[in-house]
Amino acid sequence: MLASGSGSNLQALIDDQGEYRIALVLSDKPGSRALERAEQAGLPTAVVAWPGERGVFTTAICDAVAAAGAELMVLAGFMRILGREAIDRFPDRILNIHPSLLPAFPGAHAVESALEHGVKVTGVTVHFVDEEVDHGPIIAQVPVPVAAGDDRDSLHARLQAEEHRIYPAVVAGLARGEITLEERTVRWRKT
Ligand code: GRF
Repeated sequence: MLASGSGSNLQALIDDQGEYRIALVLSDKPGSRALERAEQAGLPTAVVAWPGERGVFTTAICDAVAAAGAELMVLAGFMRILGREAIDRFPDRILNIHPSLLPAFPGAHAVESALEHGVKVTGVTVHFVDEEVDHGPIIAQVPVPVAAGDDRDSLHARLQAEEHRIYPAVVAGLARGEITLEERTVRWRKT
C-alpha cells in the first residue's frame, strides 16, 4: 500500500485483512499518520522520499514493492504521480481510489470541485491506474448524494465512509479472482 496522508483507507484495509495480506506500507512522507497506523498494526514500512525526479522515484517504489513480493500496488491518498515504469512493471496491478465519480472531477480538489459545480450526486471510484492521473478502467463506484449545507469536510466524511467499505471489498474481490480486466472493461463475477 502506498499512502502519504491520514491513512484512513489504509486502516480500513488493515482491519479487513484475511483474504489478502498487506506486505508493505510505503510512504513518501516520514512521520505520516499512515505510517503510524502501519507500525501500530505491526506491518513492514518503508519511506521513499521524493528525490526530485519522477523516474528515480518510480524505480525506487517499484523495487520496494517487488522486493516485498506484493502482487498488487494499492494507492490510497498517495500524493505523488508515478512514472510509466510502474505501469510497465505492474500492468493492471495498480489500484487507486478517488473521491468523485470519475471521469468527473479528477485531481487533488475533487470534493471542492463537486461543491463548486453544485452537483447533486458525487461519489467514490476505485480504478486501475493507467498513464493518466485519476484515469483508468473503473472497477467500482458508489454514489453519494450532496446534502444541502454540505461543506468540504462534511461531504468528504460521507465519501470516506463509502471508501472504507468499497476499497477492502475490491481488494478482496481481486484476491478471490472475481475481478478481471478484458481490454479496458472490468468484470466482477461474485463467487
Ligand atoms: C481519499 O479521500 C482518497 O479518495 C483520496 O485521498 C484520500 C486519502 O485519505 N485519493 P486517507 O489518507 O486514506 O484517509
